[in-house]
Amino acid sequence: MQKNWDLKRLIFNISSLVHLGQEVTSSKGFNEKIKGALYVVTGIFSIPRAALLIYNSRLHSLDLLTSKGLKGIDGTILRIEHRHIKVLKKNEIYSIKELQNNPFYKQNETAFKTLQTRTFIPLFVKEEFLGALSLGRRLSRTSYLQSEADTLRAIANQISTTLHNSNLFKRLARKATENKKLYENMRHIYHNTVQAFAAAIDAKDVYTKNHSNRVAKISVAIARELSWKDKDVEGIYIAGLLHDIGKIVLDRVVIRSKNLTNAEMDEIRKHPKISYDIISKIKFPWKDISDFVRHHHERIDGKGYPDSLRDKELSDGAKIIALADAFDAMTTERPYQKKRTLNEALIEIKECLGTQFDGNISKAFFKTIQKEIKGELKDPQVLPYLDKDFDPSIIIMLLEGIIAELSA
Ligand SMILES: [Fe+2]
Ligand SMILES: [Fe+2]
Repeated sequence: MQKNWDLKRLIFNISSLVHLGQEVTSSKGFNEKIKGALYVVTGIFSIPRAALLIYNSRLHSLDLLTSKGLKGIDGTILRIEHRHIKVLKKNEIYSIKELQNNPFYKQNETAFKTLQTRTFIPLFVKEEFLGALSLGRRLSRTSYLQSEADTLRAIANQISTTLHNSNLFKRLARKATENKKLYENMRHIYHNTVQAFAAAIDAKDVYTKNHSNRVAKISVAIARELSWKDKDVEGIYIAGLLHDIGKIVLDRVVIRSKNLTNAEMDEIRKHPKISYDIISKIKFPWKDISDFVRHHHERIDGKGYPDSLRDKELSDGAKIIALADAFDAMTTERPYQKKRTLNEALIEIKECLGTQFDGNISKAFFKTIQKEIKGELKDPQVLPYLDKDFDPSIIIMLLEGIIAELSA
């Protein structure tokens, strides 16, 4: 009879253990898992009062993590030293009697009484001490049968693993923060290097001083307006900085000439292809950069260069850089053309929609300028680089008209 009961009890215990396993591996938060685990233990063995303590290696203490059925125990702490931990048996069940001769018990007698400890289980994963389970008197007032003791040990193992994983998780989270900082630093250095490169490109030509930087910023503004993901926005920023890198190999005189011969014109027209040849050899984290760079002088009507691609054949990124590049050329003084006012530049873009520029991309550009003038953007990318010789209300009116027309 006793044997039969013991078997039933064992089956019940194992099913509870399965439940505990699910509890521990579920997607619940750490505190919920731990509380769940303690409730399962107390449920299986009918223990009204219990507590789970976590080891604090810095303060050499066992701190209360969660409890059941105990009142007025907040702030209860057990002091535990290395020499105490060294002699504890891992995930073993200690009755309070067994513990009483231990110096660790003597040092914490009051705390043990507050917790009403009858059974104490030190929790370990391998050599790592993680905490302890303190169980009160059982309702049945019986001691643990062999099968029950086995179940209790198995549960203690499960809880130890949860504590261990949580420690591991905390350590990993700390490491991830460190790595993130390192990565941010590297990104900073990386951006600075690319910027230095861009400055070298622009230095070839005093007229285009800072041109690459402005094209990069304007491209960012358009990409953000089009709701590009942060990573892709970063990509177009780098593409903007490097789009004219091919000019580095061109003759300085050719770049600055007012009246270009056909041969010189052909020479200049090689730069997107040269930019592409350089960029495509660098392993950037953004795969489309070389494409954006190669096609920044293409047009929607196929009359651009170097590949004479048309509308659908062009990527949004290439169209964005093409627009940003043209806008900057319009609004800065060049040897071959007079600088346009903002008003004139916007009208010119509008007139070239469908031939040189893409409608959607241009609309996003108009919208972002409108927002920047209205002060709706925290981090304006275009306005800071423009001459302030325009009337904001006139520009807003002009843009409203163009956007309405494009939306019709
Ligand atoms: Fe260019
Ligand atoms: Fe350019």
